[in-house]
Amino acid sequence: MEKVAIVTGSSSGIGYETSLSLAREGYFTYATMRDVEKADIIKKVAENESLPLKVIELDVDDEKSVEDAIRTIMEEKQRIDVLVNNAGWGIWGTAEDVSIEEFREQFETNFFSVVRMIQKIAPVMRKQGNGDIVNISSIAGRIGFPVSTAYISSKFAIEGLSESIRYELGPFGVNVIIIEPGVIKTNFFDSMKIAKKADENDTYKEITEKVISGVKMMAEMGTPPKEVADVIIKSLKEQQPLPRYIVGNDAAMFLEAKKMKTDIEFENYLKKELYGE
Ligand SMILES: NC(=O)c1ccc[n+]([C@@H]2O[C@H](COP(=O)([O-])OP(=O)(O)OC[C@H]3O[C@@H](n4cnc5c(N)ncnc54)[C@H](OP(=O)(O)O)[C@@H]3O)[C@@H](O)[C@H]2O)c1
Repeated sequence: MEKVAIVTGSSSGIGYETSLSLAREGYFTYATMRDVEKADIIKKVAENESLPLKVIELDVDDEKSVEDAIRTIMEEKQRIDVLVNNAGWGIWGTAEDVSIEEFREQFETNFFSVVRMIQKIAPVMRKQGNGDIVNISSIAGRIGFPVSTAYISSKFAIEGLSESIRYELGPFGVNVIIIEPGVIKTNFFDSMKIAKKADENDTYKEITEKVISGVKMMAEMGTPPKEVADVIIKSLKEQQPLPRYIVGNDAAMFLEAKKMKTDIEFENYLKKELYGE
């Protein structure tokens, strides 16, 4: 039976590579994006390689858009085997600089949209008696650091959500897999917003500048997004996928350090690594 996958945020980066990789593995893949005008390249690649891939519109923040996309898939294929919750973005700013509205916007896409997708697709998978939900978290879902506070909080929330629903959905044959990439070379950092107040407020100017330049330097040497797609494919091939998969040497290094050091030792280590303090 042809398996069906849906990926959110397929216009670029990890979502783009994951959609193509799933289609290359034989999944009929719905590569979804909020702006289908960005679909030219993925469509051309799929056409050249005769891949089973279709682009449909889906803005994860928009309830109706999500419902329309899922209705289309169910009408056309009557099943969903894999959901990759990938769409996301980030905002620079300290907890004081990011307004409540900006925190909400950040959580809307990075957290509530994931809940929305799961609430609509889990019943389909439960009925089938099988399915894989892949949530793209981050090393930032395991390790806090300054000036990306809203983003990090949203990824920590994804970790809590994913760990909890593993118990709820596991008995129905639905796997929940957390992917934790380190720094990946995509449009992500160029697309990052900056908190409105951070521009006017001098209090955190120095640490903000240090962290942004430190992270951007790491991004120059980031892991290619194809490696994230490869890990996702590998996880889906496991008889019993693990709860979480790390991607990138940087992520492995930070998590190993976190395991080996005390909390205070780790904070000092991270300050040095991130902004040389
Ligand atoms: N890059 C990294 O270092 C890194 C590390 C760990 C985790 N991640 C996570 O990986 C995921 C993908 O990021 P990326 O690195 O591939 O960055 P990216 O190239 O900027 O891709 C982000 C994707 O999310 C989409 N998106 C944003 N808001 C959306 C919405 N409301 N509805 C639908 N799509 C939306 C973007 O669409 P548009 O083109 O329309 O903006 C784009 O397709 C994110 O969840 C991110 O947090 C990234």
